[in-house]
Amino acid sequence: MKNLLFFACLLLPLGMHAQQEEQRINDLLSKMTLEEKIGQMNQLSYDRSGDLDAGIRSGQIGSLLNIVDPAEVNRLQAIAVKESRLGIPLIIGRDVIHGFKTIFPIPIGQAAAFNPGIVEEGAAIAAAEARSMGVHWTFAPMLDISRDPRWGRLAEGLGEDPYLASVLGSAMVRGFQGKNLSDNTSIAACIKHFVAYGAAEGGRDYNSTNIPPYLMRNVYLPPFKAAVEAGAATLMTSFNDNDGIPASGNTFLLRNVLRDEWKFDGFVVSDWASITEMIAHGFCADPKEAAMKATNAGVDMEMVSRSYIRNLPALIKEGKVSVQTVDEAVRNILRIKFRLGLFDHPYVDVAKPSVLYAEAHLKAAQKAAEESVVLLKNTGVLPLNNTVKTIALIGPMADAPHDQLGTWVFDGEKARTITPLAALQQQYGQQVKINYEKGVAYSRDNNTSGIAAAVKAAQSADVVVAVVGEEAILSGEAHSLAAWELKGAQKQLIAELKKTGKPLVIIVIAGRPLAIQHELDAADAMLYSFHPGTMGGPALAGILFGKVAPSGKLPMTFPKEMGQIPMYYNHNNTGRPFRGNETMIDDIPLEAAQTSLGNSSYYLDAGAAPLFPFGFGLSYSTFDYTNLRLDKTTLKQGETLTATVTLKNTGSYEATEVAQLYIRDLVGSIARPVKELKGFKRVALKAGESAEVSFTLHTDDLAFYGIDMKEVAEPGAFKLWIGGDSNTKLETGFTLE
Ligand code: BGC
Repeated sequence: MKNLLFFACLLLPLGMHAQQEEQRINDLLSKMTLEEKIGQMNQLSYDRSGDLDAGIRSGQIGSLLNIVDPAEVNRLQAIAVKESRLGIPLIIGRDVIHGFKTIFPIPIGQAAAFNPGIVEEGAAIAAAEARSMGVHWTFAPMLDISRDPRWGRLAEGLGEDPYLASVLGSAMVRGFQGKNLSDNTSIAACIKHFVAYGAAEGGRDYNSTNIPPYLMRNVYLPPFKAAVEAGAATLMTSFNDNDGIPASGNTFLLRNVLRDEWKFDGFVVSDWASITEMIAHGFCADPKEAAMKATNAGVDMEMVSRSYIRNLPALIKEGKVSVQTVDEAVRNILRIKFRLGLFDHPYVDVAKPSVLYAEAHLKAAQKAAEESVVLLKNTGVLPLNNTVKTIALIGPMADAPHDQLGTWVFDGEKARTITPLAALQQQYGQQVKINYEKGVAYSRDNNTSGIAAAVKAAQSADVVVAVVGEEAILSGEAHSLAAWELKGAQKQLIAELKKTGKPLVIIVIAGRPLAIQHELDAADAMLYSFHPGTMGGPALAGILFGKVAPSGKLPMTFPKEMGQIPMYYNHNNTGRPFRGNETMIDDIPLEAAQTSLGNSSYYLDAGAAPLFPFGFGLSYSTFDYTNLRLDKTTLKQGETLTATVTLKNTGSYEATEVAQLYIRDLVGSIARPVKELKGFKRVALKAGESAEVSFTLHTDDLAFYGIDMKEVAEPGAFKLWIGGDSNTKLETGFTLE
């Protein structure tokens, strides 16, 4: 009872605060004309023509994006606050996706670190830098699950797994928004793109998706739900139509799921012109119908396409959109403006010392880059030791300051980027000679004339470090690829370097999983770095020389062949699962009988195993998992279970391992995946050191949307694994009663 009273007292001020907030919103709303309300729902992109001033003054514009000049932000804000009738401040948005000035690894790279801590810190740093320049709101995190390396935007996402994306996406929301949205180091997050955008058919951007209800609930929606629970202030609808309904017109998802079920109280913004694009989709006849469908579906703010401002007055007059619906949208928008403290502190403090590129920010970006690098192969050449006197540093990505920043970098600067070449020269130039040759000028370059010089440099070196991959422009929005091998003459470059017989270290810097089988065969060691950002050079140099042992794990399955796509670890089993010992194409006898190969689900020419499974990543050290045990083997609803494993660093380097826990629900009311990630921990161990690593699972963690479309943990038998990747074999089991 005492406890109850205590909690009631704690909740009281919170409840009061929310009440006061709603009171303030309603007071303001009651003074607004219909035109002013619709103005709040209108977001435009900044341009310098000066035409915006009048629109802001008359209350026709509620938000701007793409303005990062603090003096200009203050000038426009002053028009909103002092010259518009009700003085409602603008909310300024910007795509701050993986850093503002200090650029962190692209999100898929951050995901490879399996570390919510660095994701949160990176977002907090981005927020502090951005808000210092007058940005109040970012369009991140992108929570689109993607299982298709062709899709260029997977670079902006957190991988193929709903649990990983939920944990990291929530961390990113917390990082951007801080303790209090009104702090001058916080910005509002925008979870996007709602929803299923990452499942674009064929991996071609903007393409239709066809995600059925169970899959939607169990794979595509969970990261959004988790981020709403983490307090995300805003949400963006996606470009795709799912099963025929464009996301900006999807009433069921925006009202029933987001508002009614999840109790989201922030505001919903469309994607860039995604409302009027419903005309091209064939879902609306004209901008007026698009405005009607989007408003009624629950899109509160329209990004740039002006169908609301032009058509809502008439739609309301005609009774096709209700004043209530508009009020609701405006309430949602004002709520976030109040929470951001914009009514009390509308201006950027231009006198404040700059936090851009602060020392601590660069350090954190370097740490994030270090943790995001995945070691895929090592025959022992890494880390480089002191017998190495000359390095041939080759390749188009070794000194590509623009490209290593990756996609969605509007504000980062290549002049502040430290490349592998610069870092190696600065940090190791005294102890080793670095002979740098591009070989191939840029990743798509077909010109082979530079390869001879690269080979020459390789011949006189102790080790060759080839840095290949993809320019930034080859991933990101609208940058899908149908072929995903190394582009240009890079394959030839690697083949020629291999012929020198020198130890060959390949570093791939890319925006997506690439086809790397050939390069892997050629390499003595391979490091995979998703575009690593401003401090990618020092991070990679430190890893090459063993200052840091790699600890990244793949946040996506790496298929062997494009034709295996979609390929993801948490698939269903099928009725005729792949066994792994099937006859492959080269072993099929001539005129073999039709049924002689058996009947299992695989490709004759590629099997059904990936090149690397989800969660895979080596270290300079080795790790042993033993003694997997549970504190109980039967579990009742509402209980928790603790799984513990002994993890030993059996190698000779101090290193960090990402221990991963997977489960399988053996029988469900709908078929369940063969494995599902349910926990992970980064564990740092000295050489020879052991630790007991424990994970606690609540029965809620076993829940999924089953046949009744309710989220429940269904009774029955479960398998449980702990190990270093999704292919781990260390297994036990338990039963849920
Ligand atoms: C993208 C969004 C982005 C918006 C604003 C759109 O093209 O899909 O992710 O936030 O532009 O720049």
